[in-house]
Amino acid sequence: MASPHKIVFANEKGGTGKSTTAVHVAIALAARGARVACIDLDTRQRTMFRYLENRVATMKRRKIDLPIPEFEAFEYDTLARLGTQIERLSKDADFLIFDTPGRDDKFARFVATRANTLVTPMNDSFVDFDLIGQVDPENFKVKRLSFYAELIWEARKARAKSDGVTIDWVVLRNRLHNMEARNQLRMARAIEELSKRVGFRALTGLNERVIYRELFPSGLTLIDKGYLGQLGTAHVVARQELRELVTGLQLPDRYSERLV
Ligand SMILES: Nc1ncnc2c1ncn2[C@@H]1O[C@H](COP(=O)(O)OP(=O)(O)OP(=O)(O)O)[C@@H](O)[C@H]1O
Ligand SMILES: [Mg+2]
Repeated sequence: MASPHKIVFANEKGGTGKSTTAVHVAIALAARGARVACIDLDTRQRTMFRYLENRVATMKRRKIDLPIPEFEAFEYDTLARLGTQIERLSKDADFLIFDTPGRDDKFARFVATRANTLVTPMNDSFVDFDLIGQVDPENFKVKRLSFYAELIWEARKARAKSDGVTIDWVVLRNRLHNMEARNQLRMARAIEELSKRVGFRALTGLNERVIYRELFPSGLTLIDKGYLGQLGTAHVVARQELRELVTGLQLPDRYSERLV
């Protein structure tokens, strides 16, 4: 049996929208009929796990059926235990989705090196960019790679050597504000330059929208049309941006017989 396609959301920088994006992608895939399992590696915050717990509670409370992935939090302290958990959840999954904490963490590194798709959401800010590359203060041209890019670079090299797999590294420009056209242009240029040097793909993620902050208690997502009540009216565009994000991830279609 083919092993699941592993999608890892990772950035040592906190608050870039890893958990929010991970949940939305997981639900989007589950809604298409793919078998999805999630592991939350953020043992402190457990945002993804709690989001999905809230979703289950909403399903029960409202007596409704919603697409829901398998989900677990990682609760142990050894890589071996994580390996066992991954193996168990892999049995019935097309996609395995990992959320990781916004700090350096050995479990996050472990799954990052085993990813098929590594998604690094970042805010359109040179503070966030600094983890990946340093820019010239006068003209914003990329001067050198930073440690996180080096780390991923090494991981990809090791992976390609050990089992010939290329990790598709996607840097997601996330939480974009429509108001900041000039900054967006500068970031776009810097990211494009760096993407060529480091070999990641730059993708546009989710826009900054209040709705993303309000969905957590109910565990609902933008996909849950018809259940969002007053939240749901003005978000056709947001759903479209989520669809484009999932398309942009270029996930394998070997599960297409189950995808509708
Ligand atoms: N697209 C968005 N629009 C508006 N708010 C957002 C968006 N994405 C995330 N947020 C909000 O930003 C905060 C951080 O988001 P989230 O928890 O998803 O980030 P994270 O990268 O997982 O953070 P951490 O590194 O702490 O795990 C939360 O309050 C969340 O509701
Ligand atoms: Mg998080």
